[in-house]
Amino acid sequence: MVSETERFTGRVEQAEQLDAPAYAVANALSTTLEVTGTASQPIQNTLHGTWLGHPLHPALATLPIGTWTFALVLDTYDTFGLAPHRRAGNAADLALKVGAAGAIAAAAAGAADWRQVHGRDRRTGLVHAALNTAALALTLGSLALRRRGRRGAGRTLSAAGWLTMAAGAYLGGHMVYRRRIGVDQADRSPEPRGFLSVLSLAELEEDRPRRVEIWDEAARAAIGVVLVHHRGRVHAMGSRCSHMGGPLDEGWVQDGGLVCPWHGSRFCLATGDVLDGPSTAPQPRYEVRINDGQVELRRIPEPGDEALTPEEIEASRAAVAEAADGKEVPPGARKADEVLFEHHQILRRLFENIEAMDPEDPERRDMMRLLAGELEIHEHVEDEIFYPAVRPVSEDVPVAHAEHQQLADMLAVTLRLGTSTPAFEEQLRALHEAVDHHASAEERSMFMEAQRLGDRRLRQLGAEIEAMVDHERESRARSAFRALKIRLLEGL
Ligand code: FES
Repeated sequence: MVSETERFTGRVEQAEQLDAPAYAVANALSTTLEVTGTASQPIQNTLHGTWLGHPLHPALATLPIGTWTFALVLDTYDTFGLAPHRRAGNAADLALKVGAAGAIAAAAAGAADWRQVHGRDRRTGLVHAALNTAALALTLGSLALRRRGRRGAGRTLSAAGWLTMAAGAYLGGHMVYRRRIGVDQADRSPEPRGFLSVLSLAELEEDRPRRVEIWDEAARAAIGVVLVHHRGRVHAMGSRCSHMGGPLDEGWVQDGGLVCPWHGSRFCLATGDVLDGPSTAPQPRYEVRINDGQVELRRIPEPGDEALTPEEIEASRAAVAEAADGKEVPPGARKADEVLFEHHQILRRLFENIEAMDPEDPERRDMMRLLAGELEIHEHVEDEIFYPAVRPVSEDVPVAHAEHQQLADMLAVTLRLGTSTPAFEEQLRALHEAVDHHASAEERSMFMEAQRLGDRRLRQLGAEIEAMVDHERESRARSAFRALKIRLLEGL
């Protein structure tokens, strides 16, 4: 079903009558920038936030949103006599002034960004700007009234300004979060982690960008990389422009940078850094080497990357193996993945049993509680023992944590439902599928990667997990705590 807000944004996006005024405004902005001559590009870079590494407009927009909201709260206090009259009023006036200054700066940055969008996004941007301009006008009008001592009318005008700003902010949010304007659109796959041959050097012409593709198995997608042979060196960066996804392999080389054909962002050939906006994010970079006449690439990790390189995995594996050597392995201990796989099977059987039971069977609730307890234990041992241990050799841990959170939320909903209701059947099936997906994904990927820890370490972990599972099941205090939690979730 289409919501009212979607209908509203859809109408704005389809309002072709906005094209003519948008064209006129964009032209006026372009002419203003053009008359500044060589200063035009630095001005635009400043307004886009190229120097900051993030778009400047949303950062500045927080000023009017925050301060005008603060002023609205103070005015409300003032209206109902809840604060010392003069102090609250003065603070509200100051907040409105600071917000107005921020709104003007945000408008300048937003206008620079808006020049680069077209079609439906340009229309939405125009309405967003019109609403924010109206909000600014109402706020300035409010300040004028307040200065003349007409505080009541001033408060009404600034409250109207706040509402107008909120409508404008909604459209701004739509442009960013739905239409992805201003977000990084480069492909940041960690592949290839080791050097990979992609092309014969003889096929590269000086300063003629050439696209090659790398396969990313995790994303199940081909990632474009652009190669440029420039002054005796081969450079490589992601071919999808970080600004709006333009094809850099169709761009051109200029002043040591590769220029995007769509909006002219220029990226340093050597570093991938943004030399000229509108883009604010650097391009993904690749290390290049020539081996036997072949161009070979390897992805250069970015700051904050959680992607593991083969060298890091090997170093972690060696460190873990060394530490494990000094520890005892209990005789007959099973490997952690075997213990966890067995627990997955127990969970699957519990689901099947509950699904097969008569909905009216009073024992169904007890079985559900047993399943809830086992799920809780399983998540606990994985979170406490297994995930921290495999984190150095597997990238699956953050997703596994996210799935645990999702399973806990779904379990809470299931426990609240009567076990004989159709809603319960549907929720139980969804939870079963979610658990099955989580378990299967672990078995397919994380358990395989865990083998890098070595047999000895996996048996140590297996023994730790089994001991913790036994403790969780047998400890009276832990069982009572779980039972209490399940009762609370059931809402009893
Ligand atoms: S897509 Fe806009 S500059 Fe590349």
